Amino acid sequence: MNKSAASFTCTACGAVHRKWAGRCDACGAWNAIIEEAPLSKGPGSKVPVARGREIALGTLADVEPPPPRRQSGIGEFDRVLGGGLVPASAILVGGDPGIGKSTLLLQAVAGFAGQGLRCLYISGEEAGAQVRLRALRLGLAQAPVELGTETALRDILTTLDRVRPDLAVIDSIQTMWLDTVDSAPGSVSQVRTAAHELVSFAKRRGVSVVLVGHVTKEGQIAGPRVIEHMVDTVLYFEGERGHPFRILRAVKNRFGPTDEIGVFEMTGAGLAEVANPSALFLSERGTPAPGAAVFAGIEGTRPLLTEIQALVAPSSLGTPRRAVVGLDSARLSTILAVLEARCGIPFAGMDVFLNVAGGLRVAEPAADLAVAAALLSAREDVALPAETVIFGEISLSGALRPVSQTENRLKEAQKLGFSRAIAPARSKLGAGGGLDVVQMTDLTAFTGEFFGAG
Ligand code: TYD
Ligand code: MG
Repeated sequence: MNKSAASFTCTACGAVHRKWAGRCDACGAWNAIIEEAPLSKGPGSKVPVARGREIALGTLADVEPPPPRRQSGIGEFDRVLGGGLVPASAILVGGDPGIGKSTLLLQAVAGFAGQGLRCLYISGEEAGAQVRLRALRLGLAQAPVELGTETALRDILTTLDRVRPDLAVIDSIQTMWLDTVDSAPGSVSQVRTAAHELVSFAKRRGVSVVLVGHVTKEGQIAGPRVIEHMVDTVLYFEGERGHPFRILRAVKNRFGPTDEIGVFEMTGAGLAEVANPSALFLSERGTPAPGAAVFAGIEGTRPLLTEIQALVAPSSLGTPRRAVVGLDSARLSTILAVLEARCGIPFAGMDVFLNVAGGLRVAEPAADLAVAAALLSAREDVALPAETVIFGEISLSGALRPVSQTENRLKEAQKLGFSRAIAPARSKLGAGGGLDVVQMTDLTAFTGEFFGAG
């Protein structure tokens, strides 16, 4: 007999441990491991083979044509979903508390309802009056959305089964609880079981469900990552506090491309779509200043121009500061090391601050060259040439590697009035060409050209 009376589960990543620890080995989160009662008695070590029912098997050719998608009319939202809502799909929308998830989903659900879908919005966090007040603020008070406030999942499932809507939003999954599960709402087993019940209901009854999940830093409640594997689509709503821009990012999508983003702006009357994000992210630019480089990036299927800003200053600390917002800090360390080792430009004894303007997060290696350019420009206090976009991956040898979708990057830059691009040699320029493209083989050539160094 095994004596697993309780297990220890990480609320951040869901990893199960045999004993409690301050730090989760699997994801590195601190103070996130909690003790949990086992889900259920479950079958013993031997599953009785004869008691199951034989399942129907088919061939690979049996797939039905994809069902028609339904649009909310909010173009940015529909695109991130892969072109609209797929019937009977389960979608998770995660994000920090207060980032605007409830606002976004109320707007989306009103959009779908306006297209003739029967939509339910179930809030477990706010009172009906609060949701109605928000709807009023968003100008959606008359939208044909049915509103419920409840946290008991049993009652919600009964209601959904009775009503059979096309779409149900559950805000949020961490407030839902089932009386069959012996732990508090928000615990890993409650969140997992509630999500499982909702997702299987969605598949069984052809109802699309959207689950809202708060990303939690403290680990008091389970994060949305523990249910990512159950749903068809995972969207994260991101943004920096103090910035009005919000980015909806698809990180998993069984029905569409991942890494697709939708850009919104939080206004006094809800989220407004940003049709031309490049123009928006570059809008704060004045005359070229030292430390700023324009990166021609790709987010999902779309080109997106952003400004990368660096500040390099003498440090008074023994270990100089490296502060990064919107980029991977390990990537910064790599680029600094390459600049030092391959180009002979040291950053030792200097504080380095790196930032992507507008609160965007850039994960593409193609940003390397723009980062290096911003760093050098800041260090030398020389502005980069105006009207120039930069992109390219830097390898550890200091060579520049061509990146994907060069043509799209160039086209977007041209559309926004840029006249020149700095790109790795052997880039496939395609027909992106009204731009003057300077192609370089390695970082040393780049530093030599613009800063007379190296
Ligand atoms: P909310 O949707 O409640 O966030 P979440 O559900 O992710 O916790 O959004 C909360 C924030 O958005 C709040 O700080 C107020 C702001 N907000 C606006 O700026 N404009 C609006 O029209 C609305 C409805 C909210
Ligand atoms: Mg909310």
